[in-house]
Order: sequence, then structure tokens, then C-alpha cells
Amino acid sequence: MNKEVDNPAGSIPRHVAIIMDGNGRWAAQNGRPRLAGHRAGVKSARQIVEACAEAQVEILTLFAFSSENWQRPAEEVNALMRLFIEVLQREVATLHDNGIRLRFIGARENLPTILQKRIEDAENKTAANTRMTLMLAVAFGGRWDITQATRQIANKVSTGELDVEDIDEAMVSRHLSLATFDDPDLLIRTGGEKRVSNFLLWNLAYSEIHFSDTLWPAFDSTDLATAFEFFSQRQRRFGQLDNQKEASAD
Ligand code: IPE
Ligand code: IPE
Ligand code: MG
Repeated sequence: MNKEVDNPAGSIPRHVAIIMDGNGRWAAQNGRPRLAGHRAGVKSARQIVEACAEAQVEILTLFAFSSENWQRPAEEVNALMRLFIEVLQREVATLHDNGIRLRFIGARENLPTILQKRIEDAENKTAANTRMTLMLAVAFGGRWDITQATRQIANKVSTGELDVEDIDEAMVSRHLSLATFDDPDLLIRTGGEKRVSNFLLWNLAYSEIHFSDTLWPAFDSTDLATAFEFFSQRQRRFGQLDNQKEASAD
């Protein structure tokens, strides 16, 4: 796949991250229980995974369950855990057939044991796929991520594997969940709220951010195209001046 030819102006983001919000409100609008909203959200996710793979996105990171979502009523949390287990059971073979590599980020030790096992199996089965990486953020929080990275680094310092002077931004990055994956180019949040809700705090430092009022279960490939159009019009400066970015691209 030749990115230079297929994506000449860099108009398709290489790494897309999505905060899939609005399932509960969609259900309420349709007079259905919240779980029906989450189920409809899975359908949207399937469509958007396909559309991103078609568009030659390299990494798609979906925020499915946050560290703070554990505080929802037990009934909803349990239903969501059962839904994750069911979706993995149903979808992994198809994802694999389509060349998608699955990865999970988050405090997986807090998930039900069967789900941990499904996650591990899905990661192993799809590890060699190269078409697109689908990164699922489950039991994930940006603050959790920075904390676990800090703990890993502190451990290495205490055992003498690392010196304090070795700690720089690249080293912190490598200990975060995205590790060697590039930062998201585009963050999309559906459902109308304009906040990050403890998603990838470190890695979103220079992401372009598109807020969509569409509730996640109603978000489709047309909404995705709108987000890509927004992205294609952004001029990314990374703190430099316009003419410096042009010069470095030559
Ligand atoms: C997002 O939809 C899915 C999860 C957080 C699991 P919500 O469940 O937050 O839906 P709203 O925001 O209440 O509409
Ligand atoms: C963010 O949505 C988390 C996910 C989409 C998984 P929330 O619904 O949990 O966020 P808040 O509570 O509105 O900030
Ligand atoms: Mg919400």
C-alpha cells in the first residue's frame, strides 16, 4: 500500500481515536433501555471499523469503557462486560479475515477473567495482521496510564536498570499504553460533549479534535467523512510557524 499515492495531501489521518459517546441518550430518545443503546453502538463501531480500513487508516483507537465507568450502576457495568465478551466471541474471526490486528489498552486485570482470556486470544490470533490496528480502550483512563508508566519507570530505577537522568519524554512515551504506536492525528468525540473525559491525556497533545453532535449509535460513514474533511483542512504546526512546517516537508 503506497501512502504517497493514495493519500497525497495527508488528508486521511493515520491514527484516528474516537470517544464513542451518546449510547444512553440514543436509547432514551428511542424509548429503549440503555443496553439497547450500547448494542446499537456496537453496530456503529463495526461500520466505522470497516470505513476506516477502507480509507487506509493505519490505527483506529476506540474508547469503549473508561476507568470512571466502573462507577456506573452494577447492572449497567455487568451488561457492558457481557456485551464485550459476546462481541469478541462474534467478531474476532471476521476482523481476522479482514486483516485487522486487535490490541487492548487499559487495566485489564480489573476485567472479568473470561474477558481477559478472550482479549488475550484475540490479540494472539490477529497479531500478524497488517491492514489496520484496532486498539480497544477498555477500563482505560489517561491518568491510570500515566500512573502505571510512572510506576514501571520507578521500579526500573529502584532495581538499577535505569538512571533518573535517562528519563526523558521518549522514555515516558514508551511506558505508556500506546508505547511505540504514533499519537492520534485525529480525535473524534460523538454525542455533543466537548471534553476529553480522561482518554489518552499524554498522546492527544497535538491531535486535531473534532466534536460531533451525532450520538454514537447514529454515527455513520458520512459523519466519518465529515470528520476527515475537517482534518484535511487543518494546518498542523506543532508549535512552529507555518513556513517552518512547509520547509521541513520539502
Ligand atoms: C458511551 O455512551 C458508552 C460508554 C461510556 C460505555 P454512554 O453510555 O456514555 O451514553 P450517554 O452519554 O449516557 O448518552
Ligand atoms: C467517555 O464517555 C467514555 C467512553 C465513551 C468510553 P462518558 O459518558 O463516560 O464521559 P462523561 O462522563 O460524559 O465525561
Ligand atoms: Mg456518556
